[in-house]
Amino acid sequence: MQNLEWALKKRLWNALIVLKFRLNKPRRIPKPTSTRRPIKRIPIAQHHSSIQIKEILVADYIPSDEKAWSHLIFTKFQYMLYRYFPPKVRGLPSIDSDPMTALDLAYGPGHRKCLHAPIIPDEYKEPIDLGALAVAGPYFCYLQDGNDGRYKWNLSQLNDYEHHPGLHRLGVEVSFEFDKGAGRLKAVEIDCELGRCTPADPEWELAQKIALCSVTTHLSLVRHFVGIHLALVAQFAITTRNKLPVNHCLRRLLWAHVWGTQYSNELVSNILMGKGGDFEEIFSLTHKGLCDLFASSYKHYDIGVLDPESDAERRGIRNRGFDLPALKNRVAHWKVIHEHARRYLELYYKSDQDLREDAAIKAWLNDLNHYIPNGVDELLGDKLTVEGMAKLVAAYIYAGTVEHEAVGTGMWNYQLWTHVQPVRIYKNGRREPVDLYQRLVNYNFILNVSRAPLLQDLSYLAGNDQAGAVAFSTFLAELADLQAHLKAESDECWKLHPADLEVSVNS
Ligand SMILES: [Fe+2]
Repeated sequence: MQNLEWALKKRLWNALIVLKFRLNKPRRIPKPTSTRRPIKRIPIAQHHSSIQIKEILVADYIPSDEKAWSHLIFTKFQYMLYRYFPPKVRGLPSIDSDPMTALDLAYGPGHRKCLHAPIIPDEYKEPIDLGALAVAGPYFCYLQDGNDGRYKWNLSQLNDYEHHPGLHRLGVEVSFEFDKGAGRLKAVEIDCELGRCTPADPEWELAQKIALCSVTTHLSLVRHFVGIHLALVAQFAITTRNKLPVNHCLRRLLWAHVWGTQYSNELVSNILMGKGGDFEEIFSLTHKGLCDLFASSYKHYDIGVLDPESDAERRGIRNRGFDLPALKNRVAHWKVIHEHARRYLELYYKSDQDLREDAAIKAWLNDLNHYIPNGVDELLGDKLTVEGMAKLVAAYIYAGTVEHEAVGTGMWNYQLWTHVQPVRIYKNGRREPVDLYQRLVNYNFILNVSRAPLLQDLSYLAGNDQAGAVAFSTFLAELADLQAHLKAESDECWKLHPADLEVSVNS
């Protein structure tokens, strides 16, 4: 009976998710539009009754120019089905022990017509190479100097949140040492629920899985969703609509990266964060554990992570003798985006004093500092300057394009390989049940829907402003140059290219 019920649910849910993927077409960004009334912020608990978090603020309404009713209705229907016909059945068997068979059974021809199957990164082939993952790939953002001659991934705080019963806890600290002879980092100790493990210990293999389970969970829940979607982009978009006049030069610059935010967050909030949503059903934390983690992570958001060079400096990992290929790739994108922001701002502000005399800019910055948790001064600096503004604006564009790709769709080639990097680690040694794995596949699949590309001509957003239009065209040309340059380099599955990037986090 269970298998029959699962066969029915699997068929229906896979058809629904594939249909959702196919219906999602990139939308043309309109010219900057007025908002009917200022957007107010309300606690997410007031907006979505199934997400009882008071600390996270969201918009009280979606601007009409962002709405696509068909998608909103589809999403409401999907969440209703999650409650009354969820894609899970108690007591199903574990996935196949062969990862390719497990994937083939969950990722059928309907999916593959929309999106190619993931590939296995080299670092995930035996033996697992945490040292390589620490400097190249989506988990690069976790490496920091341990100030004890070692380097660390420190995710011990994940122990503080309620886990589903029967699972290993996610609190973990991984220590790396620099092997000068080999010129690379090596994982030498993992401190987790199993105790302190070294590569010679029989628990090492399991400890590595706990470490990877922990980083992938943190990346999806905290770095991606709470950090980018809720703490940064939602607040930035509300402030930009509320505080910058529709024809303000900065609003025109930001518009492509702002438009659609409230609508997109509305589409996904319940489905991901709500009771019975994807996060609770896929990852190791209960709904209560997730809500506590979201509230705490939101409160501790740090916008400084968005400038890749200064963030690596703060983490104490630059110029330490080992290569940081992920940093090199991120910085290549950062430089083009930063130069675009600076060049554009210098068209309108000939001096720092010019900028300080712009009342709209001052109101915009005050609002950002008030509503983005811990403010924006880490990037802006103590005094308002064109240089500081260029860094802040670049960081915002970078977050919605490069960073979002790295922590969102970039997980496609990583998160489905649960034989290396599980999303739940059962204490009794079993693997994920087939329904949970299917949901993980569908969750990652839908992150890859087609969205408006970064490589597009946005000069029409400048309106009658010729200089602004030229600045947009120059940005496109420089991104195209970077694309050509990176294309000539060796290709790794973690490496980002401008052609992979979307113009914003929004659908
Ligand atoms: Fe996202």
